Amino acid sequence: MCGIVGVLGNIEAAPRIVDSLKRLEYRGYDSAGVATLIDGGLVRRRAEGKLRNLEAALERSPLSGTSGIGHTRWATHGAPTLSNAHPHQAGSVALVHNGIIENYLELRDEVVGAGAVLSTDTDTEVVAHLIDLARTRGLSPREAVAETLPRLKGAFALALLFAGEDDLMIGARKGSPLAIGHGEGEMFFGSDAIALSPFTDRITYLDEGDWAVLTRDGVQIFDRDNSPVERPEAKSSVTSSLMDKGNYKHFMAKEIHEQPEVLGHTLSRYFDYTTNTANVAGAEKLNFNKLSRLLISACGTAYLAGLVSKYWFEKYARLPVEIDIASEFRYRETPVSGNDAALFISQSGETADTLASLRYCKENGAAIGAVVNVPESTIAREADMVYPTIAGPEIGVASTKAFTCQLAVLAALALQAGRERGVLSAEREQELVSELTEIPSLALKALAAESEIEKLSQPLSKADNALYLGRSTNYPLALEGALKLKELSYIHAEGYAAGELKHGPIALIDENMPVFVIAPYDSIYEKTVSNMQEVAARGGRIVLITDRKGAEESGGAAENTVIMPDMSDIVAPIIYALPVQLIAYHTAVFMGTDVDQPRNLAKSVTVE
Ligand code: AGP
Repeated sequence: MCGIVGVLGNIEAAPRIVDSLKRLEYRGYDSAGVATLIDGGLVRRRAEGKLRNLEAALERSPLSGTSGIGHTRWATHGAPTLSNAHPHQAGSVALVHNGIIENYLELRDEVVGAGAVLSTDTDTEVVAHLIDLARTRGLSPREAVAETLPRLKGAFALALLFAGEDDLMIGARKGSPLAIGHGEGEMFFGSDAIALSPFTDRITYLDEGDWAVLTRDGVQIFDRDNSPVERPEAKSSVTSSLMDKGNYKHFMAKEIHEQPEVLGHTLSRYFDYTTNTANVAGAEKLNFNKLSRLLISACGTAYLAGLVSKYWFEKYARLPVEIDIASEFRYRETPVSGNDAALFISQSGETADTLASLRYCKENGAAIGAVVNVPESTIAREADMVYPTIAGPEIGVASTKAFTCQLAVLAALALQAGRERGVLSAEREQELVSELTEIPSLALKALAAESEIEKLSQPLSKADNALYLGRSTNYPLALEGALKLKELSYIHAEGYAAGELKHGPIALIDENMPVFVIAPYDSIYEKTVSNMQEVAARGGRIVLITDRKGAEESGGAAENTVIMPDMSDIVAPIIYALPVQLIAYHTAVFMGTDVDQPRNLAKSVTVE
């Protein structure tokens, strides 16, 4: 996902823009650039690769000027080359763009036909030419933008600068987020509150289809019909201090260790500790007691949180769940009606496939709930009810604390659904909630196994493949463990339901295959012991993640055993996520990969 910054300030803009872009690095990128207005002229500096390369270019050839735009590019159209790096310029217009212009080919033919000479392979440059051509026809910047925006199909967040217009910046959003920052005699654009955190905590989020005209004195906002509108100004909770790693080597390490705290915040938001009951404000919007099924859709790790919750909704609320990966759900034309409720899970709240699935369900009349970590995000704004995770900004591309906080919210929703559907007794609810309130202390105990996990991760970093096995709510954890290892260390890994081993994957087992078995001692543990014996008999090297009793009953099949504290079934998938995260983290550290920004990945996939 690209990052956008715009500064209409009173001091040199370029250093401020680079500082803000550094806060957007977590989104993933492969080139970056800045443009400022110097004596009315647009001047750019761009660089391939990391921001340090852009900083070097600026040191070699500084940019003055107090107004400017900046961008970190995650390549979609056109390779991550210097020429394709943003900002793009056409005559009197420079702009930065996050998204995809789906009709850019026809627009490109039009501007070339009108005499434009393109210098890049990007869809973005075409937009700059369209607006510049409108300017050469005598339209003002505002008129040129108002004429062009409706012609753009697809998703975009844009920030534009105009030659000769030192006190003007225009921004627009459709499908990709854009926020306005209010300063003292200064104004800003940013992809999110994190981008704006170095400048201000006074934020206005543009709605879908909005565009905005900034001067240093303020902002005028227009809706998709070009009618003037007011949008509320909010105070951002993101502070600059939240945006540094503290004593940790990586944001991911910091965020793994924040889990006891942020789980505590999230649990206290959704459970009433005095009555030991679930207390989810707005849960009634999903009409649990009238539902014959609950739809859930998400991507990646968020999808796996939903998969865990399927077991909970069906067990504790007797509510059938249909869960889909969003990129599949959005095109399957699933029958959805006003009798349905749909839950969408997303850390960023901007994932394109999840958003499209939400819109499909909304168009078909379903009640829409969203579990998100960014309450101002597009998914949150389009849902009927938002159930925020209280995880704080998650900067590492690999989702960790957001995942476990999503599970905490989903557990609360499942228990409240059980109560509202009359199938979960007050006594059983109190018992389960009492167990869930142990999570912060159990998470602290689980993290105490880190040094042991670090040791066993070193040989794993030499492996070419790995297999993760789990049953019941630990099966989605097996999938999550494999995903984490893949995305962080680039080792191929697969997660499997342990019961499926004999249906194929057992053919993979030999002494070169590390096998992680996620199995607390529960009612089906001995089934998993059989699986481990089968793996050990074929030379598979087992790392067993279990509890004390599980270690005693494992039959000596495991080469390494990571012992977790004792806990109840409903708590296990949340706590067992921590060793799973630590295994992936330390393996990646041993391999020297870019832990916080793994190759090819973006923090939020805002394009299809
Ligand atoms: C998780 O570690 C990955 N970074 C990725 O799978 C992520 O969970 C997925 O892209 C969904 O993102 P979201 O939660 O912001 O919607």
